[in-house]
Amino acid sequence: MSRLVYVLNGPNLNLLGKRQPDIYGHETLADVERACRVLAQELNLEINFHQSNREYEIIDWIHAARESACGIVINPAAFTHTSIAILDALNSFDHPVIEVHISNVHKREEFRHHSFVSLCANGVIAGLGTHGYLLALRGIAALVDAKANTNP
Ligand code: DQA
Repeated sequence: MSRLVYVLNGPNLNLLGKRQPDIYGHETLADVERACRVLAQELNLEINFHQSNREYEIIDWIHAARESACGIVINPAAFTHTSIAILDALNSFDHPVIEVHISNVHKREEFRHHSFVSLCANGVIAGLGTHGYLLALRGIAALVDAKANTNP
């Protein structure tokens, strides 16, 4: 069974560490990727880590994940609140999906309270900073291991 997890990041997350550090912190996306790779080794997962400011690229990576991955961790950033197309793509993926937000979107503007992606996510982590990505990877590993144990 595949142990490959796609970790997908939406628009503006390339500026992590530089944009609104009071909200998103000082760590860069490269720091997040490094931490994910260290944890992935411990969890015996492989990682494809991507960021794009373009909705279609995120959709294409979800389609690629359909062919090869056991899970998706996704921070869709602002596409969370707007993209039915990303929801449709995730609905075509048959394995666990965990949605991550660095900030607590529920403490922020009302337009951030609704997520299209949450309609399909197995779990949602918000407000724990970049540590949320690591918790999400642990969540995917637990779900994949539980499934492997019921269908050995
Ligand atoms: C975000 C929250 C979104 O509302 C926002 O548009 C982002 C980042 C977060 O990680 O907290 O760009 O997804």
